[in-house]
Amino acid sequence: MNKNIVVAIDGYSSCGKSTLAKALAKKLHFIYIDSGAMYRAVTLYFLRNNIDLENDAQVKKALEEIDLNFHSRDYNSHILLNGEDVSDEIRQMHISENVSAVSAIKQVREAMVKQQQKMGKSKNIVMDGRDIGTTVFPHAQIKLFMTADPKVRAERRYKELIAKGEEVTLEEIFENLAHRDYLDTTRKESPLTRAEDAIILDNTELTEAEQLNFALDRVVPFLEPA
Ligand code: DC
Repeated sequence: MNKNIVVAIDGYSSCGKSTLAKALAKKLHFIYIDSGAMYRAVTLYFLRNNIDLENDAQVKKALEEIDLNFHSRDYNSHILLNGEDVSDEIRQMHISENVSAVSAIKQVREAMVKQQQKMGKSKNIVMDGRDIGTTVFPHAQIKLFMTADPKVRAERRYKELIAKGEEVTLEEIFENLAHRDYLDTTRKESPLTRAEDAIILDNTELTEAEQLNFALDRVVPFLEPA
């Protein structure tokens, strides 16, 4: 079997990229890497340490101090920031509100992309994010670009956060998603855009099982012996 298959999943915030990526990785026994979690963990470190995003030297030093690792438990990857499991904290609203600004910084992107490329070397992986098919793995065999109706996306994220006990309103979530879409697609450094060879997957009306089958149909041909 081909031993270096990369499935790159990009798309807007809260489109279900990680749900699909995890299910796909589990089914295929591939490694799942959540690149958004890396930007979120960097954001958490910057907030905790009051890093001035305009100060290049401070950003550089902070990036040198950050050590990120994934710890996989049943495909629910946990991210460790300097050894501390921050998987829950990075999903909170104060991180979502700051992550687009942090992920727009050139130095941050360069450091993350380098690490992501290293993680994908000589392995079968599914990685989700915003620039995986365009910048991180432009030669990925399978590229999916996910999208869904903004209202449906907001409702899904709202239910998730409420279930976790966060006090948020649907309007807040809708605004945050719209704002992040705007920042992610208009930033200077590798903005969110569909790679020319990426297949569009609109899951507004799809169940999780249906979207998994859609993706599997695209990946399976690459698994067959040559
Ligand atoms: O997928 P997510 O919502 O957890 O990602 C959090 C933020 O990180 C998102 O608003 C944009 C940024 N991001 C990015 O710029 N590039 C990636 N490859 C992944 C995420």
